[in-house]
Amino acid sequence: MSSTLPSTIPSTHPAVAITTVGGPLELIPRPTEAPGPGEVLIHVQWTGSTPLDAHQAVGGLLITPENTPCVMGDAYGGTVVALGPSDPTTPQTLKVGDAVFGYAHRFPREKAHQTYITTDAYMVSNLPPNTTLPEAVTLPTNIVTAFHTISSDLQLPLPWPVPESYQPAEATTPILVWGAASSVGMFSLQVLRHWGYRHVYAVASGKHHATLRALGAAVCFDYTRPDVVEQIVAYATQESSKGSDGKRPKIPFVIDCIGSINGTLRPLTKIAERGTRIAVMLPVIKKHMSKDGLPETHGYLQNTFFRDHLQTEIIPTLLGQGILKPNTRRVVEGKTLLERAQNALDLLREGAPSGEKLVWRVAEADE
Ligand SMILES: NC(=O)c1ccc[n+]([C@@H]2O[C@H](COP(=O)([O-])OP(=O)(O)OC[C@H]3O[C@@H](n4cnc5c(N)ncnc54)[C@H](OP(=O)(O)O)[C@@H]3O)[C@@H](O)[C@H]2O)c1
Repeated sequence: MSSTLPSTIPSTHPAVAITTVGGPLELIPRPTEAPGPGEVLIHVQWTGSTPLDAHQAVGGLLITPENTPCVMGDAYGGTVVALGPSDPTTPQTLKVGDAVFGYAHRFPREKAHQTYITTDAYMVSNLPPNTTLPEAVTLPTNIVTAFHTISSDLQLPLPWPVPESYQPAEATTPILVWGAASSVGMFSLQVLRHWGYRHVYAVASGKHHATLRALGAAVCFDYTRPDVVEQIVAYATQESSKGSDGKRPKIPFVIDCIGSINGTLRPLTKIAERGTRIAVMLPVIKKHMSKDGLPETHGYLQNTFFRDHLQTEIIPTLLGQGILKPNTRRVVEGKTLLERAQNALDLLREGAPSGEKLVWRVAEADE
């Protein structure tokens, strides 16, 4: 059973869509869907772009005749305009008028690059008072990815609530984050720091090193230097000689935030040893923005604790406490929704973002 749309809400609304791979983006009309039990209807005012947008629009990743035109976007920020019929899964905290943000990507009705979305309440974070919507939309996609990667792929525990004086078993074990200046990388550093993982090696270009130390990196390496691999191996060897029994890899955990065959995977083959656990962001890129690559997979909702607590509780709490810092933003301008979407896509194609997130307005609060 669905509720009916409030009379102030338009029955259709514009959505940014891929209609032809490699062609310009287009606006298509979409029905505004009344929220069902446990769902909310959100008026979307801000969004953030992610490299996946370009992999899809330019490279055709996961674009099929069946899902074309393909509505885009996975990070939204806006206002709750209607709640579905009450349901035990609907957090009591949400009410009409709340400013909210979140990561939602599964169906066209919840994709972020449209002026209204209908999604499950467990995909929604309340906006804390210390944060604006443009700041908030830098988080959802990649903070969810960071939590999922660290807990599921690396199997490093992230207990919630964090027990008092919590010391993880791997507190002083080296964890390498390659591509630490990416949005995924910067959130991975912050999550690892908060849960007490203190020995994080960050790999990024030198201009970001001070920022990355402030976010929790213990030591930084510059991937633009030809001897970066030798530097990392030499440092890890020296560190492991201080107390390791030599039975474990010198760097037992690696997050590859980029997933580039030449840029990250090849150098990592010279660093990883038997037993090193490596999480690689998908799609693996053979050539920048090519048609090659593997489908994105995101299994975070399979973890029922994360499904029920990550977006509704953990992320807004840590953001509100100032423990999670939004990424630096570059606001993409344009006269219309379509122009802003296209300008953001063009910046992604050029590989323009460096230590920052592209954010742009979807709808004005009063339109
Ligand atoms: N479910 C999933 O698997 C999932 C979820 C989210 C994201 N992703 C993927 O993860 C990747 C990163 O996403 P994002 O939003 O975090 O990207 P992003 O912030 O746009 O990444 C830009 C950064 O990448 C860094 N970089 C590029 N090549 C590098 C290299 N060879 N070594 C080290 N750093 C390098 C650049 O660092 P410098 O400025 O230092 O040059 C730049 O700051 C994308 O491919 C995305 O599609 C996958």
